[in-house]
Amino acid sequence: MEVKMAYEAKDYSKLLGMEGFSDTLLNNHFTLYKGYVTNTNKSMETLAAMLKDGKAGTPEYAEIHRRFGWEFNGMRLHEYYFENLGGKKALDMSGKLAKKLIADFGSYETWLQDFKGTATMRGIGWAILYQDNVSGKLFNQWINEHDVGHPAGCIPILILDVFEHAFMTDYGLKRADYIEAALKNINWAIAEGRLK
Ligand SMILES: [Fe+2]
Repeated sequence: MEVKMAYEAKDYSKLLGMEGFSDTLLNNHFTLYKGYVTNTNKSMETLAAMLKDGKAGTPEYAEIHRRFGWEFNGMRLHEYYFENLGGKKALDMSGKLAKKLIADFGSYETWLQDFKGTATMRGIGWAILYQDNVSGKLFNQWINEHDVGHPAGCIPILILDVFEHAFMTDYGLKRADYIEAALKNINWAIAEGRLK
């Protein structure tokens, strides 16, 4: 019934061959992402069917509703993440993102230190450079389980997946080495394009 609304998994195979990432790791990661897309669609279809059957207000309906945030964010965050990878050029230090990072953090290096610090926090999750849609301010946020903790109305500018599946195949427990490798592959033009 929600067929028209169904999300389709995007193809990120152009990232294969990216330095520091094996095809095995990336292909597994694409498969995992596709699972989120499938489950986002399934949740939407199930909720719509339950609503139609007068089952809104049941515990089952509530649980699927709760689950939806997990599936949708899992889908969308992976899209942001894969889209901001595959770059070969360093951040343009005369561009608007670099200027904004310097204005809000004092220097690019200070921002980077904070971003890496965020990305190496214990736990599974995401490091996200956000822009507050109201004040325009940039800040780094740690997102643990991804159905909670997103600052309301903020725009994700740069996303790094630090769930273990994002690095263990190639880096074992060396998350910091994965972060260095990922930072060498950032598509800064995409990140900058998200800035308001
Ligand atoms: Fe992931």
